[in-house]
Amino acid sequence: MKSMTRIKQILIPAILFVVAGAAAASGFSILGRHMRPSRSASLGTIVEPDVLADEPIHPIPRTIELDSRKVVLGGRLFHDSRLSADSTVSCASCHNLHRYGADNVARSVGVGGAKGDANTPTVFNSGLNFRQFWDGRAETLEDQIDGPIRNPAEMGSDWPQILNKLRADPDYTAQFSAIYATGMDSRTIKDAIATFERSLITPDCRFDRYLRGDSHAITAAEKEGYRLFKQNGCSSCHQGVLAGGNMFEKFGVVADYFADRGRIVRADLGRFNITGQEDDRYTFKVPSLRNVARTAPYFHDGSAKTLKEAVSVMAKYQLGRQLSADELGLIVQFLETLTGEYSGGDR
Ligand code: HEC
Ligand code: HEC
Repeated sequence: MKSMTRIKQILIPAILFVVAGAAAASGFSILGRHMRPSRSASLGTIVEPDVLADEPIHPIPRTIELDSRKVVLGGRLFHDSRLSADSTVSCASCHNLHRYGADNVARSVGVGGAKGDANTPTVFNSGLNFRQFWDGRAETLEDQIDGPIRNPAEMGSDWPQILNKLRADPDYTAQFSAIYATGMDSRTIKDAIATFERSLITPDCRFDRYLRGDSHAITAAEKEGYRLFKQNGCSSCHQGVLAGGNMFEKFGVVADYFADRGRIVRADLGRFNITGQEDDRYTFKVPSLRNVARTAPYFHDGSAKTLKEAVSVMAKYQLGRQLSADELGLIVQFLETLTGEYSGGDR
């Protein structure tokens, strides 16, 4: 946080910046390098020409327009453990920006050493998800935040407690009043955090460069992996900008994953917990495959330790196929090309 003052000096005079890449918001020290003033008047995602537009996967936009003051404030809140009951856990404890927005353990540990009941998904590119959480129970990033704040196994807190602690910090109250007419309240805290999360995009991975027309950006083996990914039907669910994140699907379409795994718990029921509809039992948001090579272990239960294992489970339970070791290896090589740029510092 040493460099905060310097960054504030760079940022505060401008209302709108283009935030480019995860690095922009997370690694405060490199912020200046990745933020460029925008000439465009419109708000929201900038649509860029997409050379291979007929492909099922589309590139992540290189830039997203956001209010940079909110990004900085939200980044501070995201790393602030005062959001938890005993001031020991921050959002970043589980969504570590140096671990591609996740934490590489099957179950995260929250306040008082409590273990969560699902694997922690990444916050990188989460602003591009159609819903939030494995079961999609939150419509927006703003709505999502009440989840971890209240969850006794995560932050175990509530808004009155949080506001009490944060309002005692004059630096925060000044920052909030400079941005929001209503100053600091639960709505503006959520707005700032969600804006920060929207800045955590990882554009320009090798695969996106390929989609934009650079045919040398991926190797022949990786192209073959992508062909197998499409040919086997992975892209019927993992598609769009995130190679996922835009539909709900059952886990266990052609074979019963949960019967084979055993020990069914509430988190396994997926959307059934929200809708009560029998059809929604074991149904989840199809997760994004962006940066997937960096966010092991896999699945909502954190059961697959390697990407190879995850792909093999998918082939068996979603598609009824047994892929050869070669085919698995090639698909994994393709998935590795989805690792985007993150230059927020040491990892
Ligand atoms: C103790 C670990 C922990 C903490 C602390 C935590 N999260 Fe999470 N986060 C999780 C887990 C686990 C899930 C998935 C839960 C589910 O889907 O039921 C999740 C899901 C999410 C998602 C949805 C991503 C997606 O792809 O669906 C977002 C966004 C998110 N968290 C942001 C936050 C923010 C913001 C904070 C701080 C206010 C926070 N998290 C604090 C563990 C944590
Ligand atoms: C019918 C839709 C569907 C098909 C087809 C499908 N998937 Fe999935 N995929 C899902 C769903 C749903 C999940 C989340 C399962 C869970 O954890 O509950 C998932 C999870 C994953 C994960 C784990 C991601 C993470 O972050 O935990 C990987 C990797 C993956 N799929 C790759 C593939 C590959 C490769 C193929 C083709 C061999 C494939 N999928 C086919 C729906 C599908």
